[in-house]
Amino acid sequence: MQQIKFYSGENIPLELHKVRIVQKLNLVPIERRLEALYEGGFNTFRLSTKDVFLDMLTDSGTNAMSDNQLAAMMQADDAYAGSQSFIRLQTAVKDVLGKDLLLPVHQGRAAESIISIAYVKKGSLVPMNYHFTTAMAHITHNGGKIAELLYPEAYVINSDHPFKGNMNIELLEETIVNHGAANVPFIRMEASTNLIGGQPFSVQNLRDVRAVADKYGIRLILDASLLGENAYLVLQREEEFKNSNMAEIIRTMTALADLVYFSARKISSSRGGGMCMNSMEIYKELEALVPLYEGFTTYGGISIREIEAMAVGLYETQDETMICQSPGFIKYLVDSLHEKGIPVIRPAGVLGAHLDAMQVCAHIPQTEYPAGALAAALFLISGVRGMERGSISNQRDEDGNETYADMELLRLAMPRRVFTLSQVKYVEDRLNWLYDNRELIGGLRFVYEPPVLRFFMGGLEPTSDWPQKLMAKFKADFGESL
Ligand code: F0G
Repeated sequence: MQQIKFYSGENIPLELHKVRIVQKLNLVPIERRLEALYEGGFNTFRLSTKDVFLDMLTDSGTNAMSDNQLAAMMQADDAYAGSQSFIRLQTAVKDVLGKDLLLPVHQGRAAESIISIAYVKKGSLVPMNYHFTTAMAHITHNGGKIAELLYPEAYVINSDHPFKGNMNIELLEETIVNHGAANVPFIRMEASTNLIGGQPFSVQNLRDVRAVADKYGIRLILDASLLGENAYLVLQREEEFKNSNMAEIIRTMTALADLVYFSARKISSSRGGGMCMNSMEIYKELEALVPLYEGFTTYGGISIREIEAMAVGLYETQDETMICQSPGFIKYLVDSLHEKGIPVIRPAGVLGAHLDAMQVCAHIPQTEYPAGALAAALFLISGVRGMERGSISNQRDEDGNETYADMELLRLAMPRRVFTLSQVKYVEDRLNWLYDNRELIGGLRFVYEPPVLRFFMGGLEPTSDWPQKLMAKFKADFGESL
């Protein structure tokens, strides 16, 4: 395992890459950031990047690409059918994920759509460790329901449990028995469980899930979008694998699943997505839907150049010196915030740092979306764009009632190899200021609420003039500084 110690004893992550192409950033004045918030309905998805300084909305499609990925893009074989680029991708999927058969799709949620159309119907129940927004939306859209089966420690914000993404095995079996195995089309395991703070499951837990799946004859589907990071944390935290390597751990995990799907925007720092399997029966169940919704089965709606980048990116996922960068920076940020007493999900996971808005904004009721308010407030005082991962990201129930999220999180994504440590220190600094001034943050209410995945395009407004007051305090403390 890579460990580079500093003589000074300082514990900081060291970049194992050099920067060869750069992109200029803007840090606009706070007055402009306030206008931008009103223009974007206090929803960070609706901000324009010309107003954003550090874009920590997501790691999806925003990871830095390697020189080898960019080089590979130039050899794209732009054929509608039978492209050699697809053959290279197929080989990469076989080598890295250990699956012989591949169906490409334009991104992760397209796989979720096809899988749900193929397997979910009214009365279906899909057990999972935890939902992801798009996975759940496609299952419910096809008439099914989900059951989230984590252990209680998954919801403990400040914890040192190494595998908070583990599926609750006892509850899984109970759920299958109660609902009837015939009505459970598949079990879904999400690597590095996104919405509870990028928390991994252990290989042993996946083996236990597999055993239950076998006992009841149910398919096991693995969402591998963040599999590389899950494998990296297994390497660090699961005793059995401490002398293993990334490639072995990844293949051990994928071998346990009947069907593996992924967002290539995450796993391979490219665009695209895919579904892979060894069973020809499963392949046939999904195959016809790919040309219908995505494109011919050798490109699946993905640009061929991206297919080349994806193939190289998949191999790079096996490289510990690459995959460690984002979790290393996240750990640095999480540990520094924790030291200052700022409530943040621990242990540090992957994808980003996750602040607990329920505690930071304890004075804002859940009905006024504390995580959305915290995201807006942080953007206002820093130009840092995070993402609300709380009740705004939840969907209403069948009767149209609000369903409040288990956790109200502000996620600050750390795309791979994109930010420098001084930029992360800036985030830490502004968060410290905001935490000291948290009483000035107020609530939000919806003014425009789309019926599906409302968090993307929804519009909100502040419940008072709190943004103006927060800006006044910022200017009093920082003077002319941006
Ligand atoms: N599964 C997981 C675990 C994800 O994190 C995502 C996307 C998807 C599926 C869907 O993939 O975006 O390619 O359609 N997560 C992004 C995020 C959007 O910001 O966390 P997609």
